[in-house]
Amino acid sequence: MWKGNDHLDFQEFQNHYKKLTEKRLEQAVDERIESRLKEAMLYSLMAGGKRVRPLLTFATVEALGKDAHLALPAASALEMVHTYSLIHDDLPAMDNDDLRRGKPTNHKVFGEATAILAGDALLTLAFSEVAEAPELDETKRLKLVQDLAKQAGALGMVGGQQADILGEKQKLSLEELESIHRRKTGALLSSAVYAGSIIGDATENERIKLQEFAENIGIAFQICDDILDVTGDSELLGKEAGADVLLEKSTYPSLLTLEGAKEALEERYLAAVQALSGFDSRKTKLLDIANWIVKRDY
Ligand code: IPE
Ligand code: IPE
Ligand code: MG
Ligand code: MG
Ligand code: MG
Repeated sequence: MWKGNDHLDFQEFQNHYKKLTEKRLEQAVDERIESRLKEAMLYSLMAGGKRVRPLLTFATVEALGKDAHLALPAASALEMVHTYSLIHDDLPAMDNDDLRRGKPTNHKVFGEATAILAGDALLTLAFSEVAEAPELDETKRLKLVQDLAKQAGALGMVGGQQADILGEKQKLSLEELESIHRRKTGALLSSAVYAGSIIGDATENERIKLQEFAENIGIAFQICDDILDVTGDSELLGKEAGADVLLEKSTYPSLLTLEGAKEALEERYLAAVQALSGFDSRKTKLLDIANWIVKRDY
């Protein structure tokens, strides 16, 4: 009988579910895959990373009083999609970055062709992971696949990345920038929370509240990423700070100043916390994650 994670503090919760996710990710990469492709997939997948999206899914299931372990396939699928997005985001044709998760970017090690293919392979593997998840019934699998496809796709993350690239060297309005952030980053975080709400059998009202939380924390996450690009330390971040200015990207600090960006971050954080007000004490790990997302320095 599932007794909950109440006995775990946030650090223990993070460690426990990070370790589980990483084990699942490693196992999901089939031994039969062509060795160079497999190496490239595992290189980025196992390079560390905060695993924020998986942790959001686990914490959402837990907030609904269900066994968070049921979220393992969805959590690893989200991390696969996220990792693919980072590999492609770093390509010379995109943000042209040399450092990611503290290591040379995938294309620097394996070349552009293999980096593109490793990204493609991780994206498609994510869908198998959910579609074949032994932990979930068919109705849940289908809902999760549909949402992941939508949020990761042209109306979600990919569309946001396109708008981000087109927005370089342009003076965007705050509304336009918010729309980019909502899609390129918020969409996948929303999918993480949505997956948790389906796996945890949320009521319609709970699902709406959780979605409101996700939307705000999704934008907050990217505002913080923009701020850290200005104030952060490359070594700690594991990626090169200052990249946005070099590429002349519109960001929250560039549009609103650093102080303005910090205020916008605080507003989003408060709105996210407010959305959880109906969730009694079981909500704690989501609050911990929200707190971590806005206070992090990496
Ligand atoms: C970086 O994501 C890219 C964005 C969407 C802002 P993370 O900050 O979650 O990167 P990792 O997974 O910890 O490396
Ligand atoms: C990346 O945004 C969003 C996705 C990968 C979808 P950024 O380009 O700001 O992320 P970093 O700063 O390179 O991690
Ligand atoms: Mg980018
Ligand atoms: Mg980038
Ligand atoms: Mg960034």
